[in-house]
Amino acid sequence: MNNNLFEELLNRPSIFKDESKLDLNYIPECLPHRNKELSLLSQLFLILLTNPNLISRKILIVGKTGIGKTVTVKLFCNMLRDAAKKRNILIKYIHINCRKERTSYKVLIKILQSINENFPKRGYSPQDLLEIISNYLDTQDLHLLIILDELNYLIKSDRDIIYSLTRLNDDSFNVPQRLSFIGIVRDISCINNLDGSTLSTLQRNIIRFEDYTNEQILEILKYRSDLSLKNNVISDNLIKTISNIIFMKGDIRYGLNILWKAGKIAENMNLKSINSECIRLANQDLVPFSTLDVLQDMTIQKLVFLLSIVILLKKSKEPQISFMEILKSYLVLCENTGLKPRSYSQLWNYLQEHKKENLINVSIRSKDIKGRRALIEIPDIVLPKFEREITKILNKKGIKL
Ligand SMILES: Nc1ncnc2c1ncn2[C@@H]1O[C@H](COP(=O)(O)OP(=O)(O)O)[C@@H](O)[C@H]1O
Ligand SMILES: [Mg+2]
Repeated sequence: MNNNLFEELLNRPSIFKDESKLDLNYIPECLPHRNKELSLLSQLFLILLTNPNLISRKILIVGKTGIGKTVTVKLFCNMLRDAAKKRNILIKYIHINCRKERTSYKVLIKILQSINENFPKRGYSPQDLLEIISNYLDTQDLHLLIILDELNYLIKSDRDIIYSLTRLNDDSFNVPQRLSFIGIVRDISCINNLDGSTLSTLQRNIIRFEDYTNEQILEILKYRSDLSLKNNVISDNLIKTISNIIFMKGDIRYGLNILWKAGKIAENMNLKSINSECIRLANQDLVPFSTLDVLQDMTIQKLVFLLSIVILLKKSKEPQISFMEILKSYLVLCENTGLKPRSYSQLWNYLQEHKKENLINVSIRSKDIKGRRALIEIPDIVLPKFEREITKILNKKGIKL
């Protein structure tokens, strides 16, 4: 008998053919049900290959979370890069996630560092940076395609950059157009407050990604499980169970995650295939990815406010609670954590923001004598799981609960 635990683990047969194919950042060779969007993008950007630097393309992609916007654009950019290289046309692309680079300064630095690794992080104004980019592209005879993903995060704090980027060459006639742009947003309303001319440029060029149907989700998950799991490890029926779980939110990431987790659970149970219990356990254990992303980037104050909602709902016998009740729970939490409570109006804003992020539902009842009354509920996420994740993130941010 071998008592080295590593040997034991390494010898255990895996049910995965290639685990990395379930990674959320993996770019598959093809994307079922996104061919139309891929071909539309290719047609729009074909001119960068047929007449390099003649025009600059500016496109906006709109669609809900987890329906393949990012992965489609990444696959498209790889195709463009390869086709350009074959023809000796100099095109470079850079994919920037504005949830990570929230200011125009950070975005510009990121762009510059992608074309010149050693570019210093400080010491320039945004206007300088734009000029350096523009000069660099000219001297290198390069066309740059900039992808600003989750653009809504940038728009909130720092809007001018979109204007500057979309206008970089516009005022000069008959000069090479060296910069193209794809913005990705969840919801078109978040760009409404851009200046008029940027808005009209973008509104003329919108590609809308429709939600996947239940049938499409099923086929996509089947495709990803064929890539990553060995034969006969999961039945079509069980993939259907997973697609039914995620259909309401439609976030494929959650499906991929259940698939991966269920596989791990099956392996730990020494099973040769995934059964429905593995899927149930996997689903119990996960908070949707889209939610985790949002939580990770949330300020401490907003997290604490959200936590007070979750804790109160967990205790409450009703599925909905009022804003006033939440305030009390929030004040207690502030006292316990030593945080200075935010004002009523700030908290009301937090409530609206949580609603926008789809973390909570808010319904307004106006029958009440005192006027309008907001009722809050969390329909989608299992509360103890939610509480655990928020607490974990707050702990990481140094808040003891
Ligand atoms: N049609 C598809 N085929 C295969 N995988 C897909 C497809 N659509 C989405 N995915 C996968 O689902 C996950 C979510 O897609 P993503 O592009 O990140 O969504 P979005 O950017 O719209 O939020 C990614 O891991 C992606 O690889
Ligand atoms: Mg995305």
